[in-house]
Amino acid sequence: MSRPILIDCDPGTDDAIALWLALGSPELDLQLVTVSGGNAGLDRTLANASAILSLAGSEVPVVPGADRPLMGRFTGDVRVHAADGLAGVPLPRGRPPAPGLAADAIRTALRGAGPEELTLIGIAPATNLALALATEPALASRVREIVLMTGAWGEGNWTPAAEFNAASDPEALSVLLMAGVPVTLVTLELTAQALVTPERISAIRARGGGACLRAACDILATTPPSRRLGGAGHPLHDPCAIAWLVAPALFSTRPAAVLVEGGSGPGRGRTHVDRWGRTSADPNAAVAETLDADGFFALLGERLARLP
Ligand code: RIB
Ligand code: CA
Repeated sequence: MSRPILIDCDPGTDDAIALWLALGSPELDLQLVTVSGGNAGLDRTLANASAILSLAGSEVPVVPGADRPLMGRFTGDVRVHAADGLAGVPLPRGRPPAPGLAADAIRTALRGAGPEELTLIGIAPATNLALALATEPALASRVREIVLMTGAWGEGNWTPAAEFNAASDPEALSVLLMAGVPVTLVTLELTAQALVTPERISAIRARGGGACLRAACDILATTPPSRRLGGAGHPLHDPCAIAWLVAPALFSTRPAAVLVEGGSGPGRGRTHVDRWGRTSADPNAAVAETLDADGFFALLGERLARLP
C-alpha cells in the first residue's frame, strides 16, 4: 500500500527535485500539491509547480495558496532560485492550476481521509498548512505525520539566526508544532549532509532517464556552492523531506522540544531545538540528525530515472 501524501511547496529549485522524487517513488501516493509564495512570487511558484508536474505526466491537482505569510511578506532568494524560481532552467508550460485555495483544498482532503491517514509534507513557508489546521483543528486527527523541511539548531541560511522557511513564517510553523500531530523536522544540519557536487550530478545524469532527470540535473548544476558549507557543493534541502518517507533507514532521528521565535528582533524565525533535554519542555518533534548521503543520492538518481 502506498502512503497518501500532500505536498505544500514554493518551487523553487529544490522543490522541483522533491516533487519529481515523490512522483518517481511508488511508496508514495501524491494526492494534492499546494503552492505558496516564498522562493519566488506566487505567480511564479504556481506556474513552476504546474510545469514540474506536467513534465512528469502527473495530473495531481495543483492549488494556489498564500502569497504572503501570516504576518509581513515573503522575500525570495534570487541568488539561488533566480527571478523565475527555477534558476533559469526552462520547462514547458504546465496544465492550469485547479480551482480553489490551498487551505480549503487541504481541509477538503483531510475531511475525506480516515483517522491518521494523510501525511502532510511542508517544503515551503508553513502558511498554507497552518491556515488549514488553525481554522479546523479537529482535522489534525486525520493527519498521520507532518514532515517539514525547516529550521536549524545552528546558524541559519536566511538570517544568522534562522532558516528560510522558518524565517518566512515563524507564526505558521508554531501552529504546526502545537497541532498535536507527529512532526518530523528536516533541518539545515540534515540537509547539509545531502551535498550536491559535480560528481553526484554526473552520476545521476549518467543514468539516462527522460526530460525530468535531465531538467533536474540542469537545475542542480545551476545552484551555486554554499559559502556556509565551505564551497564544496550546495545542500539539497527539500528532497530530504521526501526521502525520509521513502527510505527512513537512511536517517537517524532524535525526539526534541522545538520552539520558534517570533517578534521583530534578530532572532525572528530561529528554531530552538532542545536535543539534549535541557529545558522542561516535552518533545514535540522528531528531528532528523544523520543521513546516508550516498544512499540518498543513489535513491534520488534511481527514482528520477523512472520518470518520463
Ligand atoms: O532553507 C531551505 C528552504 O527554503 C527550502 O525549502 C528552499 O526551497 C527554500 O524554500
Ligand atoms: Ca522550498
